[in-house]
Amino acid sequence: MTAQIIDGNALSKQLRTEVAARAQALKAKGVTPGLAVVLVGDNPASQVYVRNKVKACEDSGLHSVLEKYEADMTEADLLARVEALNNDPSIHGILVQLPLPAHIDAQKVIEAISPAKDVDGFHIASAGALMTGMPGFWPCTPYGCMKMLESIGYDLKGKHAVVIGRSNIVGKPMALMLLQKNATVTICHSGTADLKAMTLQADVIVAAVGKRNVLTADMVKPGAVVLDVGMNRNDEGKLCGDVDFDGVKDVASHITPVPGGVGPMTITMLLVNTLEAAERAPN
Ligand code: GUN
Repeated sequence: MTAQIIDGNALSKQLRTEVAARAQALKAKGVTPGLAVVLVGDNPASQVYVRNKVKACEDSGLHSVLEKYEADMTEADLLARVEALNNDPSIHGILVQLPLPAHIDAQKVIEAISPAKDVDGFHIASAGALMTGMPGFWPCTPYGCMKMLESIGYDLKGKHAVVIGRSNIVGKPMALMLLQKNATVTICHSGTADLKAMTLQADVIVAAVGKRNVLTADMVKPGAVVLDVGMNRNDEGKLCGDVDFDGVKDVASHITPVPGGVGPMTITMLLVNTLEAAERAPN
């Protein structure tokens, strides 16, 4: 079997067209959806990420503001900026790029963002809303994974989903989203005794560890759906995921590539969340 590729670029394009149309409709009512991206310091990867986020906003007709600060910005000054953005009616979503410099308490900064503008979905209120099934913003990467499953018409009810990785940004929210769609969910992590025994039982596998070849063909049940959240470099310096794509594609029914899989979906879901924040905002 050769797996069908779930093309994150193609799906993103389709979703971003819908975002652009909804943004136009809001603009006609006098509201331009606005995202503020805050970058502290000069982490090279973060600089690329924030540039891509701002460009994606522009391409979809959303207003975006990029605020860049020196690495020695104080925590108090950053909290004051977040508060100003909370009170700025032209801004509907606030994203503080992580990681922050070590002298700043990232959790404190995230908790300072108004939950109504928490388009990253990292605030405790957003996490609590996801856990209890209440309306709120879902973290963009696992949300993008759910959209990818939806795009292939996959019904999770009665299926066994195995999530590899337990981060607050991907693994844990991913498990809750799959659970909400009636999957039976197992979370595996570095303390899992026999990862292969778990993944071999899975109908859906989400690999979100940040390490190459965490999932190889011998660990996958024939016909399983495999979503790869990893972003790593191989020995030749080429971008690769957590999944041994070349091996697993011969066993899985569907698989996401790296690059061109989950990656573009993360930014797309940020646009969706920002648009929804603007649609929900009182005006
Ligand atoms: N750093 C890496 N990914 C992300 C993300 O999705 N959001 C934020 N705020 N920082 C990040």
